[in-house]
Amino acid sequence: MAHTTLLIRTDAPIARITPRLYGHFAEHLGRCCYDGIWVGSQRDTIPQQNGFRSDVLAALCALPVPMLRWPGGCYADHYHWRDGIGPPDERPRRLGMSCGLQVEDDNRLGTHEFLWFCAQIGAEPYLAGNLGSGTPQELCDWLEYCNTSLPTTLGQLRAANGAQAAFGVKLWGVGNESWGCGGNYDAATYAREYVRYATMLRRVDPAAELIACGYEDDWNAELLAVIGNRTHLVDHLSIHRYWVNGGPEITFSEADYYALLAEAAATEYVVRRTAEIIRDATGGKQPIGIALDEWGVWHPEVREWGPGAAARTPVTYEQANTLRDALAAAIALEGFHRQCQVLTLANLAQVVNVLQAVVMTEAQHMWLTPTYHALRLHAPHIGATALPVLVEQGSRLPDGAPAVSATASRADGQIAITLINRHFNQPASVRLVCADAPRQAYGQLLTADSPRAVNTAEQPDAVAPVDLAVYHDGAGVWQIELPPHTLATVRLQSS
Ligand code: AHR
Repeated sequence: MAHTTLLIRTDAPIARITPRLYGHFAEHLGRCCYDGIWVGSQRDTIPQQNGFRSDVLAALCALPVPMLRWPGGCYADHYHWRDGIGPPDERPRRLGMSCGLQVEDDNRLGTHEFLWFCAQIGAEPYLAGNLGSGTPQELCDWLEYCNTSLPTTLGQLRAANGAQAAFGVKLWGVGNESWGCGGNYDAATYAREYVRYATMLRRVDPAAELIACGYEDDWNAELLAVIGNRTHLVDHLSIHRYWVNGGPEITFSEADYYALLAEAAATEYVVRRTAEIIRDATGGKQPIGIALDEWGVWHPEVREWGPGAAARTPVTYEQANTLRDALAAAIALEGFHRQCQVLTLANLAQVVNVLQAVVMTEAQHMWLTPTYHALRLHAPHIGATALPVLVEQGSRLPDGAPAVSATASRADGQIAITLINRHFNQPASVRLVCADAPRQAYGQLLTADSPRAVNTAEQPDAVAPVDLAVYHDGAGVWQIELPPHTLATVRLQSS
């Protein structure tokens, strides 16, 4: 077997990997929020704290979840925040709408509950505001309610509802997918609306960071052209990226397997292209970050449209999560690290039960998906400094592309390297070369006999990390063996 050599460039740091690149997304959609993180209505049967499932709370604390976006998604442009404050029994019951689903939403999970949940799991909150069916005043009021320290009527109302101190929510989305479910705007009309909202929001709280809805290249270029010299009103431009070309969720072929991984890898090019558009529109000053607001796998079983759609009925947006999906997430994260100078936040969609969830629940059962474990293996990179990795390939994929890829970072005297062997059925032998690294090495591997392996309520640990042997092979050199379709993290540290 040919060796692959990975050279970790400790001498050429890229930038800090902001914790915001490891964000998640919780929408009032299917069983993500209600019956996922929130089980207020099943208090007697499922252990909970303040209405939130205790097992989910613990799992998300451990992951970690540095940032959480809420309440949508498409739901956000129907959501009126006043419905979700005050005594729970007095809150209105509304038509909850997102992605073609309609449910009765009793608004038990509102602003205070969500922000309490974020505080418990250590997540920075990101509130997605309603532009589609709201008004600038309504969104300004939500911002004031959350963030003012003055005893205004809204500030006092917040205090009366239990939060004396301002929440200080930094991240505010101005609409969601405004080109589609958020109002079917054209780019120029949305841009003018955005400028109006952002002008007002800036005055309420100049420290709030505002996220404008981006889309594809043409939309982004036109949006920025209309915004013109008012780019000081935009902190982040959002894009969404779902991978939809990987065939069936579990019974995929080898060709499907590679197609999904290729789509995941292409996410980096979308980020780079978006960065170029921003640079061109702003004279190279790059004052606007890219917010990859929603990303992940969207399998045909949970869509009624698009290539190979095979929707289950009723559509619940719940899908299987295989080891392949975990590898796809890891491939995307490699790109996020390489682009961490321009990519300012990213949210995996969605956090519990829906789409590429990290946690699944079913009545009393809760289990972690392979994607959870993939993210957990990336925890050492959060907040660390990204390092380039040069790859001298030994092993190759059937199309000749490199089989092994990696990302690395440094923090507090530790160097962490996460490696992927993308090959469907061939192992890889890897030499890690890292000149000034400490000698102690610890490895963890996410593997299974098949990339189609999943975790279920009955077999929650079918895919779970195991220890990986890391052999020291002379000064600054380590040797590891990676089975096919695997992900591993090696930490080099002082003790
Ligand atoms: O994540 C599911 C949906 O996908 C979101 O509501 C929407 O923003 C996107 O189209």
